[in-house]
Amino acid sequence: MKKAKINKKKVLLFLVFPLIIIVSAILLFFYFKSKELIVEYETEMKVSLGTEASILDGIQIKNGRIKTEDVELDTSKIGKQEVTFQVEDEFGNRKEYKREIIIVDTESPKIEFKEKIEVSYCAEVDLLKDVKATDNSNEEIKVEVEGDYDTCKTGEQELYYIARDSSGNETKEKFILIVKEKEVAPKPSVPNVMPDKTFTTSKGFKGETKNGMTYIDGYLIANKTYSLPSTYNPGGLTAETTDAATKMFAAAELEGLPHMWAQSGFRSYTTQSSLYNNYVARDGKAAADTYSARPGHSEHQTGLAFDVCATGYACITSGFNGTTPANWLSKNAYKYGFILRYPQGKTNETGYVYESWHFRYVGTELAEKLYNNGDWITMENYFGIDSVYSY
Ligand code: DAL
Ligand code: ZN
Repeated sequence: MKKAKINKKKVLLFLVFPLIIIVSAILLFFYFKSKELIVEYETEMKVSLGTEASILDGIQIKNGRIKTEDVELDTSKIGKQEVTFQVEDEFGNRKEYKREIIIVDTESPKIEFKEKIEVSYCAEVDLLKDVKATDNSNEEIKVEVEGDYDTCKTGEQELYYIARDSSGNETKEKFILIVKEKEVAPKPSVPNVMPDKTFTTSKGFKGETKNGMTYIDGYLIANKTYSLPSTYNPGGLTAETTDAATKMFAAAELEGLPHMWAQSGFRSYTTQSSLYNNYVARDGKAAADTYSARPGHSEHQTGLAFDVCATGYACITSGFNGTTPANWLSKNAYKYGFILRYPQGKTNETGYVYESWHFRYVGTELAEKLYNNGDWITMENYFGIDSVYSY
């Protein structure tokens, strides 16, 4: 009996109590396990440039809650950002987590372009002239042309514009280069020799055409309406034109202007003919007519006009416009009897685009009137005549 009592105590001490402790420990383990904070997220998150995003996107939390308030992401620039956020578990313990945000650009650039570009035969062409590429990254995007082209080959040629941003997104757009048929330069067209006549202009000036030459109020006129006979050849600039030009250039130099000279003066009918025909072959007739006279219509054939160049400045191109020598000539040429023959904004009167370098001798009396205190009046407007081709 005594032995059995001892055994009961022993059983309690060595078996039941440990069992209770073990069971309690197991229960506690599972209890804490069920309350364990679990935070699952990608430690490296990619976000598209310019989109709305939070540092918490895609995070899954069990047994806890976020304790970070400022979670908005600045997605305006490409690059990496390291962010942190805090999570509190069910027992009030806080833990900090790190995350790397990578702002990436996944959008391709946009290209504004013309789907068809038409050029003259063998013309020089800048295929990127009217092309613009933009990107959501706001960086400057370069556009390249893919494909071979030859403007001396008539017909359609298929080419591509390619634009890439710094993230490697690429846009490719097809366009067509159309090379026009070679324009046959007109034969040195002999303008009809104008018949002899006398007339009065719309502004009341007396005009006279004699032997194919037209004088209005005594001034020789050569424009798109009034031609010169192909045989008219004064043999160079007239003496009074040369004298006046020499004085004008000397005065300019004395005033500290660079050396100036008449680069292109008298041009014979034949010279003008090949010059004009070359321009037609290069740019087409319509374009050539805006800046080059057809043979028989050039003022250069009168021997009274020339194109000025100045040392160190663009010569007989729009690059001369607005330069110091061009401005000086425009303000002073009238004192020497010259007029700025094709002023700016008067194309509808003269028939030609602005030429800051082309001067015509008319003598000081008329030059001062046409100078008009700096607001040049054209010969056409002053005399009341046209400058329009009849053929
Ligand atoms: N450039 C002028 C208009 C001419 O050719 O005479
Ligand atoms: Zn000229």
